[in-house]
Amino acid sequence: MTHSWNNGENRQPRRILITGGAGFIGSNFVHHWCESYGGDRVVVLDALTYAGNRQTLAQLEGRENFRFVQGDICDRAAVDSLLQEEAIDTVAHFAAESHVDRSILGPGAFVQTNVVGTFTLLEAFRQHWNGKGQPSDYRFLHVSTDEVYGSLGPDDPAFTETTPYAPNSPYSASKAGSDHLARAYFHTYKVPTIITNCSNNYGPYHFPEKLIPLMCINMLLGKPLPVYGDGQNVRDWLYVRDHCSALDVVIHRGEPGETYNVGGNNEVKNIDLVRMLCKLMDEMATELPVRPCEELITFVKDRPGHDRRYAIDATKIKTELGWTPSVTVEEGLRRTVEWFLTHEDWWKPLLSEEYQAYYNQVYV
Ligand code: NAD
Ligand code: TYD
Repeated sequence: MTHSWNNGENRQPRRILITGGAGFIGSNFVHHWCESYGGDRVVVLDALTYAGNRQTLAQLEGRENFRFVQGDICDRAAVDSLLQEEAIDTVAHFAAESHVDRSILGPGAFVQTNVVGTFTLLEAFRQHWNGKGQPSDYRFLHVSTDEVYGSLGPDDPAFTETTPYAPNSPYSASKAGSDHLARAYFHTYKVPTIITNCSNNYGPYHFPEKLIPLMCINMLLGKPLPVYGDGQNVRDWLYVRDHCSALDVVIHRGEPGETYNVGGNNEVKNIDLVRMLCKLMDEMATELPVRPCEELITFVKDRPGHDRRYAIDATKIKTELGWTPSVTVEEGLRRTVEWFLTHEDWWKPLLSEEYQAYYNQVYV
């Protein structure tokens, strides 16, 4: 079933700035928005770090209503002039350093982009919104993660919007800092910020360093499938397009100053997830260097500080805004395996020397 989150005939066109729109979730959101709201102005601001890929947006580049700007969210002058010249009324803020293992190797970039970058955007947006007379329909959506809530035990209830923050990695700590700033800008200045905290996403355009794409690509290359520790860590998986539909609803119907948890209600142990992927790949791939793929599973040294379990209670967004996910984990994984099977031209160039150097550092 697909939902239509369009808010009716009376909807006014928006002028939306999407930061990090060349990354995994940001690019899926850009595609979602352009497909849903063809009359809107869509401006992407992305620094094109290792995780950003302009190719992902190539089919949109010729559109009259679309503009891609390469730039850093920490660059206040660039952000100021973009908000001004594009008369932006909505910011969807995805830009971030997003990978826990990289945050362990080098936390500085995470503090810079996630904390200082978010602060810079908030300040620029506050000035812009004030300059326009504080319009009530402006929105600043801050896209965050469930990892800010820390780690759950096996029987703990899932994270709600009132669960105290307890971030454990430099990544989640820097996201927590940015969430606090977004919250404070509403509380102090009434800037219409809304925060979403989402569980693990998966789907098309996912950078190869993350669990699901890494496993799919390694199976296709016949390389070991590195499972950290005992493989019993639990994540709550959400198909990326479901995340996008949730963010759409939050922008249109969410309350400024509020936080909404977004999750798929799909808790799976890592080892079970990897086995599911192996079975799908065995079934769907015509040629594989090693079959069955399960033979490639290798338990490796655990990630330092590895959070044991995440689980999201998404009752608030369901009851207040009417959003629920539409893709089951079985269906979503099938679509994802199919996507990696048919998009070698997208992922192969990402296995660069830089990626190999990173890989060798983590998987020693
Ligand atoms: P990603 O790493 O795939 O993409 C990040 C994008 O931000 C890239 O295009 C990169 O070039 C850009 N970027 C990085 N630094 C920048 C800077 N200083 N200025 C401008 N652009 C910059 O990340 P993702 O997985 O798509 O995550 C997007 C957002 O969603 C992040 O804020 C992340 O914390 C959050 N989130 C991710 C997940 C997940 O499962 N991936 C889950 C919940 C929340
Ligand atoms: P990841 O995709 O990095 O997301 P996050 O750490 O933000 O949840 O990892 C998902 C889970 O998979 C996490 O428990 C760590 C584990 N994992 C592995 O076991 N092996 C790997 O090679 C990777 C990248 C992750």
